[in-house]
Amino acid sequence: MNVAVLASGTGSNLQALIDASARHLLGPARLVVVGVNVPGCGALARAQAARLPAFVIDHRDYSSRGAFDQALIEALRHHAVELVVLAGFMRILTPRFLDAFRTRVINVHPSLLPAFPGVNSQAQAFRHGVRISGCSVHFVEDGVDSGPVIAQTAVPVLDDDDEERLRLRILAEEHKLLPSVVRAIAEGRVSVEGRRVRVQAQAPIRVTPSES
Ligand code: GRF
Repeated sequence: MNVAVLASGTGSNLQALIDASARHLLGPARLVVVGVNVPGCGALARAQAARLPAFVIDHRDYSSRGAFDQALIEALRHHAVELVVLAGFMRILTPRFLDAFRTRVINVHPSLLPAFPGVNSQAQAFRHGVRISGCSVHFVEDGVDSGPVIAQTAVPVLDDDDEERLRLRILAEEHKLLPSVVRAIAEGRVSVEGRRVRVQAQAPIRVTPSES
């Protein structure tokens, strides 16, 4: 399955996918292209260091969201993309984009959705005083961070936490959760019924004793 990653920032989640791919932990998922909307961002440098095809489509060069999304669609189609992973991609996509990749767009978000959607979720959770936060990977629909949740990892808020420590512990969990979901989708283990998503467990590895 041809996978594209769209990012705007540091790109540590992109790096987690690159590393998982190098360790053959993405199953049949193949990273075929990275797209960024911020020239010079860390994600672009990581893509180049990994020798992945990459493109920059700067939203400021487009007069409307629709025109920006159309440029993205064309760039992704050029690479025959089948799954789009939003990994810190800070643009809201229009229905035009989502229709082009229907049920094939996922996003990683640093909270246990539906709590704390939008930006600065880790700080929102910390300031709210929740005892457990975490991260979610979900299908993207119209609306911000609102599509069906595929998988989540809980991260406890510790008594001596601050916003930054909590953010980093959540980020470390994102780096495990996102590759595992990409693999599950590529292996055909994810099904959706309305808002409910089912992820079948990976088949156990069978070890056949060698005859000697
Ligand atoms: C992550 O926390 C992700 O959940 C959020 O933006 C952050 C991106 O981090 N949407 P990185 O660019 O992958 O390091």
